[in-house]
Amino acid sequence: MRESVTESLNPAADLGPSAIEALTEVPGPRGEARGSATAGGAAPSVGQSAVQDSDFLRAARREPVSHTPVWFMRQAGRALPEYRKVRAGIPMLESCTRPDLVTEITLQPVRRYGVDAAVFFSDIMVPLKAIGVDLEIVPDVGPVIANPVRDASGLEQVRPLDPEADLGFVTEAVRQLVGELGATPLIGFGGAPFTVASYLIEGGPSKNHEKTKAMMHGAPELFAALLDRLADLTAGFLKVQIEAGASVVQLFDSWVGALSPRDYQRYVMPHSTKVLDAVAGLGVPRIHFGVGTGELLPLMAAAGADVVGVDWRVPLDEASRRIGPEFAVQGNLDPAVVFAPWPVIEARVREILADGAKTPGHIFNLGHGVLPEMDPDVLTRIVELVHEASAR
Ligand code: CP3
Repeated sequence: MRESVTESLNPAADLGPSAIEALTEVPGPRGEARGSATAGGAAPSVGQSAVQDSDFLRAARREPVSHTPVWFMRQAGRALPEYRKVRAGIPMLESCTRPDLVTEITLQPVRRYGVDAAVFFSDIMVPLKAIGVDLEIVPDVGPVIANPVRDASGLEQVRPLDPEADLGFVTEAVRQLVGELGATPLIGFGGAPFTVASYLIEGGPSKNHEKTKAMMHGAPELFAALLDRLADLTAGFLKVQIEAGASVVQLFDSWVGALSPRDYQRYVMPHSTKVLDAVAGLGVPRIHFGVGTGELLPLMAAAGADVVGVDWRVPLDEASRRIGPEFAVQGNLDPAVVFAPWPVIEARVREILADGAKTPGHIFNLGHGVLPEMDPDVLTRIVELVHEASAR
């Protein structure tokens, strides 16, 4: 049965009892405590049909919606004081292995911002860590790899995934979350082979991806073997999340905008296609996102997406024109605009909604992730504006 619009607009109504307990501490977007909302712990089947009928999944399927759904990439994170509090003293990758902590952190932005979807708290590097690759996520730096992959012997670090043995903590956290979320969809995600490979080859974050491109052009067979292994790894990570109850997935190819369309098509697209094809039959929409991908959008759509994530450089109606009517779009407020005065933000949000209205389906988001310095109250206000201005 479809939930009423008022219920589905109020995230507290979607959360189960134990989440509600924690809710009382955090004010809702309009300042009221949300803990008083009535919410039964919906049985998974009831939750599932409500999830399928949510505006978020309807937009992803290019069906009519009651308002444009909105979430933020990296919505769980350091912009939130409640996140900093629960993460204090716990290393990033360790926090991803604790189901109770993952559940709490994943729910925080749903409570705080009133977004239309939760995104599983994890990282694109978690599956690599789970198969024993020696890496850590260094605060304010990013992923750092102890033994970067430079030759065929380095490849052996990327062994096949054993989903049950390696990712049991993911299954447990997703199951727990889906029970708490009720009618709010959970977005699962993984890193696309190119973006994950760039960390593995460079050894850490990189501006120009020199070593990655040197391998791609100079040792194309090694590069292909690495991306093929990473495709299987990410496909396994996504499948575990879907089987445990995630109802939509996003493939992050954050750094693929560094490539020309020709190189993308030749060296990278087959591996991203392998990941997206592996989850094609599982009944969940697939979002495919990268930064600086204006020239790659048609290829990223063709790789097997249902929704294409667009950064702030290309207007959404133009992006939709480039990829065609078979795909919904997601985006695309410039994250830096969140630091501008409110009238500027409001005008930009309205422009994006107008562009999005010309596409077959629109999920509102930033053009890239939330930054730690952002004011959570501004993000809440953006969610409210998106909902109000797009109400049909
Ligand atoms: O809220 C969410 O979006 C869910 C959680 C999520 C994280 N990482 C948590 C995280 C998601 C979806 C990711 C994906 C991810 N991880 C990407 C693709 C998205 C993008 O932004 O392009 C990439 C490239 C990574 C690799 C990575 N992990 C980077 C570059 C960093 C930042 C390092 C830093 O300190 O600035 C991380 C760490 C990380 N992953 C943090 C979070 C909340 C911050 C570290 C912390 O809170 O301690």
